[in-house]
Amino acid sequence: MLKYIINGGRVLRGDISAGGSKNAVLPILSAVILNRGVTRIHNCPDISDVRITLNILRSLGCRVDLTGSTAEIDASDIIFSKIRAKDACKCRSSITFLGALLSRTGKAETAYPGGCSIGKRPIDIHENALRDMGINVIGSASCIQAERTDRTSGGSVFLRFPSVGATENTLLAAAGSSGTTHIYGAASEPEIVCLAEYLMTIGSEIQGAGTGHITVRGRESYENDNVDYTVCPDRIETATYLMAAAAAGSGVRIHGCSPAHILPVIDVLCEMGCEIETDGDDNTITLVRGAMHGRLESPGIVIADAYPSYPTDAQPLILPLLAAAKGVSFVADRIFPERFSCANELRKMGARFSVSKYGLTVKGRRSLKSADVISRDLRAGAAMIIAGLSACGRTTVTGGFIGRGYGSLCEKLRGIGAEIREVPYQNLS
Ligand code: UD1
Repeated sequence: MLKYIINGGRVLRGDISAGGSKNAVLPILSAVILNRGVTRIHNCPDISDVRITLNILRSLGCRVDLTGSTAEIDASDIIFSKIRAKDACKCRSSITFLGALLSRTGKAETAYPGGCSIGKRPIDIHENALRDMGINVIGSASCIQAERTDRTSGGSVFLRFPSVGATENTLLAAAGSSGTTHIYGAASEPEIVCLAEYLMTIGSEIQGAGTGHITVRGRESYENDNVDYTVCPDRIETATYLMAAAAAGSGVRIHGCSPAHILPVIDVLCEMGCEIETDGDDNTITLVRGAMHGRLESPGIVIADAYPSYPTDAQPLILPLLAAAKGVSFVADRIFPERFSCANELRKMGARFSVSKYGLTVKGRRSLKSADVISRDLRAGAAMIIAGLSACGRTTVTGGFIGRGYGSLCEKLRGIGAEIREVPYQNLS
């Protein structure tokens, strides 16, 4: 557990970098077990979800090393096909080992995944997709077991909702079959494109990644001696720095990002009165004008939905800005409709929120005030840090989740002038 101590109200200025994408690297780290050989994943963020996943790989029999931003995994020998409950429950993406193990060993067993409490997170779509592929899947109260006998036939998979994790699991399982699999209703997030690119690097044939219809022709086995793959930038980390800059900065340049992946976030901030410059060739986004130069205006309605809409993971991040903007805003989340856990904590900082079954209404006030708040999930915690950076005085954010998705957060923010440090904290009830 950590406590972040922020002395807010300082002007953020200068250069900051986003790391590799958390949600892209995690399924890719599952995918490395398809290849009987050594894989090096570059731009791998050093975050706790990655360390949990590397431990899962060790538990399966892989040799694993993380040096700087390169993870090296030797998956020549996979000894086990079972993910232990104590590992599976630590992150959501442990569920993608189901598809990966089915492709490598033909069978898989895992306890149910964990992850942030941001709403209902069932896995029925994953299970049904695997069944559509002819895989035998048995779910019990404590675990899911799956086995495949045929590695040559493909099939058609229909996802009733474009679930990111279910699309990843289906891709991973399809990559282990030499038949052709069609995935209809697939998620189109950049992280799916990244996983498909990795699978193509090792020899799968994939068309349509990034659209709702993906076609996969895999292989019964993969044997590449050395594979190198570089993970795409983290669009939500980028959005976090952009929001912090908009709330408390001037002339903040974010490097190592893909502006095209967060266009709806940039669009909402521009509607609020920010001036933002993007350079896709240079992989930079610069916040030229933000709340420092005049109070931001409400953008009206913000609706989080599947890509390419405004991302649900950036939904909590905009709340501190709406709370201090002129006018009334309304926020709805079509992916996780109850994802407003930070509302109560941000109220302690003066935010005027009312939550209904339709979403969150925000009545803007001139500024937020410092307070002691608790973060109970990753992006809610990041939202409170953004709020703390913009509010004058001492804010503390206590919780153990922020390190799941942000590597060297305090160090990076100090690089643009923030006064923030983290200290260990044990007593959160
Ligand atoms: C991933 C991301 C998470 C992001 C989310 C939506 C990772 C590790 N996490 O989570 O950060 O917020 O995508 O962009 O990549 N659903 C079902 N049944 C299923 C699966 C999902 O009903 O079997 C529903 C969920 O309840 C939710 C919606 O589908 O309402 C989206 O979930 P999904 O896209 O699967 O999210 P995750 O893959 O868990």
